[in-house]
Amino acid sequence: MYDWKHVYDSWVPEEQPLREALCTLGNGYFATRGAFEEVNADEKYHYPGTYLAGGYNRLVSEVAGRKVENEDLVNWPNWLPLTFRHKAEEWFDVNQVEVISFRQELDMRQGLFERKVRFRDSSDRESILYSRRLVSMADPHVAAIEWELTPQNWSGEIEIKSALDGQIINNGVARYRDYESKHLEPLQQGQHNSDTIYLEVQTVQSNILMAQAARTRVYMEPKGEEVQSTLQSEKGYVAQCFVINCQQNRPLRVEKMVQLHTSRDRAISEPLLDACTNIERQGSFAHLLVKHRLAWQRLWNRTDFEIACNSKAHEVLRLHVFHLLQTVSPNTIGLDVGVPARGLHGEAYRGHIFWDELFIFPFLNLHLPELTRELLFYRFRRLREARFAAAQAGYRGAMFPWQSGSNGREETQAVHLNPKSGNWLEDNTYLQRHINAAIAYNVWQYYQTTDDMDFLAFVGAEMIFDIALFWSTIAELNTKTDRFEIHRVVGPDEYHADYPGSEDPGLSNNAYTNVMAVWVIHRALQLLDMIDDSRLEELFQKLSISEPDIARWRDVSTKMFVPFIGQSNIIAQFEGYEQLKEFPWEEYKEKHGESMRLDRILESEGDNVNRYKASKQADVLMLFYLFSSEELLHLFNQLGYTFMPDHILENIAYYEERTSHGSTLSKIVHAWVLARSDRRRSWKNFEMALMSDVEDVQGGTTPEGIHTGAMAGTVDLVQRGFTGLEIRDNVLWFSPVLPEEIGCLNFQLRYRSHWLSLQFTHNKMVVINDKGWAKEVQIGVNGTVYTIKTGEKREFNTNS
Ligand code: BGC
Repeated sequence: MYDWKHVYDSWVPEEQPLREALCTLGNGYFATRGAFEEVNADEKYHYPGTYLAGGYNRLVSEVAGRKVENEDLVNWPNWLPLTFRHKAEEWFDVNQVEVISFRQELDMRQGLFERKVRFRDSSDRESILYSRRLVSMADPHVAAIEWELTPQNWSGEIEIKSALDGQIINNGVARYRDYESKHLEPLQQGQHNSDTIYLEVQTVQSNILMAQAARTRVYMEPKGEEVQSTLQSEKGYVAQCFVINCQQNRPLRVEKMVQLHTSRDRAISEPLLDACTNIERQGSFAHLLVKHRLAWQRLWNRTDFEIACNSKAHEVLRLHVFHLLQTVSPNTIGLDVGVPARGLHGEAYRGHIFWDELFIFPFLNLHLPELTRELLFYRFRRLREARFAAAQAGYRGAMFPWQSGSNGREETQAVHLNPKSGNWLEDNTYLQRHINAAIAYNVWQYYQTTDDMDFLAFVGAEMIFDIALFWSTIAELNTKTDRFEIHRVVGPDEYHADYPGSEDPGLSNNAYTNVMAVWVIHRALQLLDMIDDSRLEELFQKLSISEPDIARWRDVSTKMFVPFIGQSNIIAQFEGYEQLKEFPWEEYKEKHGESMRLDRILESEGDNVNRYKASKQADVLMLFYLFSSEELLHLFNQLGYTFMPDHILENIAYYEERTSHGSTLSKIVHAWVLARSDRRRSWKNFEMALMSDVEDVQGGTTPEGIHTGAMAGTVDLVQRGFTGLEIRDNVLWFSPVLPEEIGCLNFQLRYRSHWLSLQFTHNKMVVINDKGWAKEVQIGVNGTVYTIKTGEKREFNTNS
């Protein structure tokens, strides 16, 4: 890692799957893994993958004796292929030559992937191959490769091949290999003009059509005769081959420009026509790079930060921002997509969208709020499906799916394979109804950060009301206790999706779910006072909300049951939690390390994790992550429970000892909730969350796709968690607690039409109300509120 660069300076084939994921290039419209140009997918080191935002397809498979339908983010034709061979010999293969030197760099500032490899083949010919690649942030339909081959000790004829390869399947995740995986039907391929080939494919079920056009030009100085090409074409594959005479020490340069359009695109006539028309208009690689670099510069201007701590942490945080912006960027606007949990970087979780947006949107809200607005529309447009799901389950309102893809249907797989035991298991994690609270929370956070009242009144309120209706109808009154209860749900901790020995899926009264349901209903009630009567009338009519519904909201929001362990102050993760057995943590940590997938380990040992007080990830602690203690105590107070600030610390200590961190989201939450009480432990958790992807801490998950929640969550932890940034009562509050490891922190953020520059050290905080179209801003620092006018700079003593 050097400054803006993520560098690998030796060739380690075993690391290639991880490097491919981490060197993915994308632009929020599509992304391509950092596989080498010359490789085909194998089941060992190389897996070129190209994924389109919203590019899903469904296939029916027969697994574990039953038919199941899954929707996958499709691996689209590989546009990378570019290789060479000496006359009548094998094509270049980095695994078959002696690598003399190797360097691979991901340049995050420019969005450029570079590789320089010096190698010797079996005939003792030495060559240097230098390649640069970009996926244009400036024009989302364009990607390009520049490739330079320099013979070191030989001259002679070589053949260069540039191809588009649609003869591919989804094969990136080993445990999915029993499922059907052929999503693409080749339609046509051929040559458009002397230097351009094309390929057109279509998904077999969703009928998304993609056309790719590739223009390949070969340059050698001094210019000789025109290089002639031949065409190689078969169903789903097209290549152009060039024969060239190479001279020792004279670099041969190849430029491959690719234009990609799909039937999901707007402002096109027909994908193939537009691909071929637009490729002709593209300039050189250098020309593309200038525009691409400027587009990245604009994004970095909005999102970069300075942090004085160990430089590794800084660079990894930058890598996280980089990959997040490659997954969703201003190019995403208009695409009608959400943020896939594993980015556009691999096939894990089939490209589905979960609750991880809860960890991602806070960062986007403060830097690119126009993007969050767009991503929230993805949910808004899927209200129809969510309403249908609620009605099917016997509830009112909207019940969003735990895993979402194309049309908002529930996409959680019915069965999953435990790769440790080889057993197929029922998957009841779809019962994570808390996703609905996350969506409402995201709407509210967006509104809080932007003050976008039009969005709230015309889009957000409809979602919040419909979600509140859902919560108020899934909640059942227990007449004995006069408390509302929620049954048949699963909390964020997926290890407990049913009770030990029970045939029925789901749990009763997951504390996190119940409290979040109350919080959503409170927001719905608050909206009644915020939105003008005429709009309220429209919404009430559209959603069939009447006075008795509102009366029930008031009832549920004051009488929801929250389970506690015995007479203690510990919130029980769910009803009956205290009856579970304690887990022998030391024994298992010694064998499997700090972060473990205990569900898989125990199942392979014939046991079941649901028998133990062992969580996959933060569950109760999510409450302290999402809410300030003031807000939470207020919520509990309204419910008639005594809950004090000290109790929060007791709960953190209790669950810290009972969590296996089997999800990369978990460490973020633990780091966050410890930030004020135990900075050392908080930093330790933060460091582990930070390394989730760069070091692939879960051992094999990152090659299947990055973890967008953990990536955004770590940056957000620094920017909001360690600064105590919170928006409450129209005030932007700060209460910094910089860890000792961070000397200072500077960043810029967008808040309600202002650009604010912020600087933090351990005893000082500086706010500059830079520019924007609002005149003043209310800032609260450690309990006191100040008004800061545009252009004003203020310093505060903080002694964090
Ligand atoms: C976690 C979920 C998360 C999903 C996608 C799972 O392992 O348990 O909380 O939403 O991964 O990141």
